[in-house]
Amino acid sequence: MQSSPPGPAREQWSSRIGFVLAAAGSAIGLGNIWRFPYVTGQNGGGAFLILYLACVVLLGAPVMVAELAIGRHGRRNPVGSFEAIRPGSFWKIIGYAGVLTGVGILSYYAVMAGYTLGYIFKSLAQDATPFADFAANPLVGLPLFAVFLVLTVLVVYGGIRNGIERWSMILMPLLLALLLVLIARSVTLEGAERGLAFYLKPDFGKVTGHTIVAALGQAFFSLSLGMGAMITYGSYLSKRDNILVSGVSVALADTLIAFLAGLLIFPALFASHLDPTAGPSLVFEVLPRIFGTLPAGRFIGAAFFLLLSIAALTSTISLLEVATAYLVDEHKLSRHRSVWVVALVALLVGIPSALSFGSVPFFSKLPWIGWDFLSLMDWIFGNLMLTLGALGISVFFAWVWKTRNAALEIREGCPGFDRIAWVLDLMLKVVCPIGIVVILVFLFLNLG
Ligand code: TRP
Repeated sequence: MQSSPPGPAREQWSSRIGFVLAAAGSAIGLGNIWRFPYVTGQNGGGAFLILYLACVVLLGAPVMVAELAIGRHGRRNPVGSFEAIRPGSFWKIIGYAGVLTGVGILSYYAVMAGYTLGYIFKSLAQDATPFADFAANPLVGLPLFAVFLVLTVLVVYGGIRNGIERWSMILMPLLLALLLVLIARSVTLEGAERGLAFYLKPDFGKVTGHTIVAALGQAFFSLSLGMGAMITYGSYLSKRDNILVSGVSVALADTLIAFLAGLLIFPALFASHLDPTAGPSLVFEVLPRIFGTLPAGRFIGAAFFLLLSIAALTSTISLLEVATAYLVDEHKLSRHRSVWVVALVALLVGIPSALSFGSVPFFSKLPWIGWDFLSLMDWIFGNLMLTLGALGISVFFAWVWKTRNAALEIREGCPGFDRIAWVLDLMLKVVCPIGIVVILVFLFLNLG
């Protein structure tokens, strides 16, 4: 994925496993370990988990395959791929929305990633400042945010084949191992059972329209779907790759990590009598408490936040890559210039988010809605836009491009696909569009 000229000579992943790791790297990130626990906490626990899993299987996995197929066939960024499949049509508007959404998500995601970076040093220094005070200092939040964006730029800049592909191979299993160790500690804390019950025993009485919308949004967010990140990554796939197997593997890995993150957070949260509905600050308050109970906890804490920062980095790369690929393919900008332009926009758009944890009262509690700016950005881009994007992608795939044409693409590298093509067709033609529209109607009725 270094400087990739548009057209048939487009650069490809170095290997199948390289792609799966890069795509899993995109999917696995703060969405699993920061966002999933806090959204689950706000939406009542167990029932949310079940809805989330249902959304991943019924809507997420099919959209994943659709995005990869559109990308490999179009061999372009999202805008270019829609244009390649249906030239001159308005469908590329989904691509434009995706490019915009990517920058929107990057702008606040890098803020949280910056705090994660800061927590590496905070843990090492055994600094006990609560998250609220730590994050309320703009002289901490803004530089960390900028540093994280620059790190992202440097990786996307230099190409990810040799850097991130190789790094992910070592570091992601390490993150998994550390998660398992920490879970063992968390579930043996006194009072952990109540956390397990909250997380694993569904109480469907708590389900509202909002819960369902949140579950769907979380599924798309966590899988990096709905804005063309997987279209872009798919555009670097070769015809020998198996889209179906790769896509499903990525979805499985992502879901496993999110599930484990819940298993880590909720027992510890209930053991220390914290509030599950605390929102975006949740994991930053809960995790240090677990580290505090461990021998050499400061080093374990630092290692954990280091791995989490790297997981976040492999996600911000994909967010930056979409708009970059768009500028390179469609506007013939150089890769280097594109990367800086996009990062600069994300930096400017992200400043209010970086000031929304108390440093500026206005952004910390917006008039009218009462939310902080970062949560608002997350709701608009990380939830609503992704859901609309996924709706557009499924309709485009099944009704416009049509599954039988797409099957010619997917069949390459996956000869057995024809036998199950009808399942994908049913999902993308009927289940996804109807499911998403019903959920959105719920949402707006609720808001009204
Ligand atoms: N999926 C990533 C996470 O869970 C975030 C992310 C990266 C993303 N690229 C994306 C979300 C594209 C939506 C779309 O942390």
